Amino acid sequence: MLCAQGVAAPLMLSSLLLQLVRANLPSGCLIASDILSCTNLGLDQVPEELPVMVATLDFNHNRLERLEEGGFAGLPNLDTVRLAHNQLSRLTPGTFRNTSNIRHLDLSSNQLNIIEEHYFQELVGIKELLLYNNQIVRVESKALSGLSNLQKAYLSHNRLTDFPFFSIQEHANLTTLDLSSNRMPNLPVKDIEALKEKIQNGLFLHNNSLICECSMYGLFKQWEYRGFTSVTDFWEEHTCLIYGEQRAMVRFLKHVRYFENCKIKPPVKKISMEAYAGDSVMLDCITSLKGKHLNYSWVTKTYGYIAPPFSNNMLQMHPNGSLEILAVQTNDSGVYLCMVQNHQESSNDSLEVNVTVHTRRQDSEPFNTGFTTLLGCVVSLILVLMYLFLTPCRCWCRKQPIPATPNLANECSAQSSILTPTPPATEGPGRKMCQSRPAVTQQAPEIWTTRAFPQ
Ligand SMILES: *[C@@H]1O[C@H](CO)[C@@H](O)[C@H](O)[C@H]1NC(C)=O
Ligand SMILES: *[C@@H]1O[C@H](CO)[C@@H](O)[C@H](O)[C@H]1NC(C)=O
Ligand SMILES: *[C@@H]1O[C@H](CO)[C@@H](O)[C@H](O)[C@H]1NC(C)=O
Ligand SMILES: *[C@@H]1O[C@H](CO)[C@@H](O)[C@H](O)[C@H]1NC(C)=O
Ligand SMILES: *[C@@H]1O[C@H](CO)[C@@H](O)[C@H](O)[C@H]1NC(C)=O
Ligand SMILES: *[C@@H]1O[C@H](CO)[C@@H](O)[C@H](O)[C@H]1NC(C)=O
Ligand SMILES: *[C@@H]1O[C@H](CO)[C@@H](O)[C@H](O)[C@H]1NC(C)=O
Ligand SMILES: *[C@@H]1O[C@H](CO)[C@@H](O)[C@H](O)[C@H]1NC(C)=O
Repeated sequence: MLCAQGVAAPLMLSSLLLQLVRANLPSGCLIASDILSCTNLGLDQVPEELPVMVATLDFNHNRLERLEEGGFAGLPNLDTVRLAHNQLSRLTPGTFRNTSNIRHLDLSSNQLNIIEEHYFQELVGIKELLLYNNQIVRVESKALSGLSNLQKAYLSHNRLTDFPFFSIQEHANLTTLDLSSNRMPNLPVKDIEALKEKIQNGLFLHNNSLICECSMYGLFKQWEYRGFTSVTDFWEEHTCLIYGEQRAMVRFLKHVRYFENCKIKPPVKKISMEAYAGDSVMLDCITSLKGKHLNYSWVTKTYGYIAPPFSNNMLQMHPNGSLEILAVQTNDSGVYLCMVQNHQESSNDSLEVNVTVHTRRQDSEPFNTGFTTLLGCVVSLILVLMYLFLTPCRCWCRKQPIPATPNLANECSAQSSILTPTPPATEGPGRKMCQSRPAVTQQAPEIWTTRAFPQ
């Protein structure tokens, strides 16, 4: 049986290779297992026949002006398509027909002008969409709404004057939306504030042509306060134009003078924390207030108002304001509000900590997993022994010359000493295994020592 398998594998491989070679590819294209790379070849069209099993297509740096309808269909493993640095100005309807497995699509540095509703409709599995450095002036309102698996979309360095923020409200996995370096004068602040916190945290809007006004300023100030990466990573690049005047540009997070009279609502700092039931959790009351005499207090759903000195067998409040929950339970989930007051300067600050407590799913399982692993080990050991003693073992052993390594004996004795806690039977077979099939002995003790005692 082993012999038959040994023959089958190369056969399968060579048929795969044949399949790959049969495709009529332009010279200069490279195939590296499941990658087809045809970069920088001056191509003006995607080859009609593509290797069936290909996972990555790389056509970066060519002269593609159009893509054929269904040009990527019938490639069941296709995951990534790179079309950056070409001359695509629009996409034919049905370009991505039957390509729902595509996860990554790079159309950056092309000449796309409008993202039409139909462009990506069929890419229901897409996670990453690169559209930066095109000439996009508009994204149609439903162009992205069906792409519920979308995680990252890059649209910077285009000519967008607005964006349909409402269309991505339900995207649960979106963590990056880069709209920086566009030409947006105004932002629909309400629509943006309605987005999931995760999206807001990764919504990049710096280097646009924003008009300086209070609601815009309030939005970014809130984000800054909450430490969103979109703001903290590009703090200085957040600019706006006074009266929309190109020459009157202000770095508005750095130079806040212009906004002194804005009545923005005091930003609420929010932090999310996750913990497992039974853990000890430290809620730090992070504040920008300075001074020796700060009064801290917490308001919690389950324990009410807490101010120092406070300590019982469940909670402890430290002098620095941190609240420690000694063994958190699932019913401790909820929002904890910390308030800080500086009586001397009559200033105050507050912070919301949203605690989510999960039950430890493996709680009842450690024994089970350990036990099944142990059982698995014993069974595989028995199988190995059975295989060694009961099968005639012809072809494999003959083809494989017995390595005449001098320290093989040493290795064996070392390994049999690892195996000593096991029943006495191992002593004999241990040696025998080494002599007949060194490859197996190397594995057997490894399984035993690493998996039998988890942690
Ligand atoms: C392509 O998709 C259509 C429907 O979207 C389906 O009817 C057709 O069978 C698919 N073709 C292939 C080759 O998978
Ligand atoms: C988000 O991602 C998770 C895992 O990566 C997946 O299970 C889930 O279906 C995705 N959600 C949506 C709405 O696509
Ligand atoms: C800012 O945007 C302008 C125009 O959109 C662009 O030319 C410039 O390169 C961008 N600056 C940076 C630092 O990205
Ligand atoms: C706040 O702190 C000051 C001095 O530290 C103390 O005198 C005062 O009673 C505290 N106020 C409250 C409400 O805890
Ligand atoms: C506050 O004090 C506790 C106990 O001393 C310590 O564990 C915690 O890290 C401190 N928190 C801060 C923010 O310094
Ligand atoms: C929360 O659950 C624990 C047991 O899991 C219980 O002992 C405790 O009384 C509960 N606390 C509240 C406030 O319901
Ligand atoms: C907190 O400070 C604001 C102004 O900074 C003030 O309006 C408010 O009354 C203060 N709250 C408390 C509880 O002192
Ligand atoms: C707290 O976090 C949980 C889980 O992340 C979320 O479902 C809930 O809406 C949050 N609550 C608030 C008030 O933000």
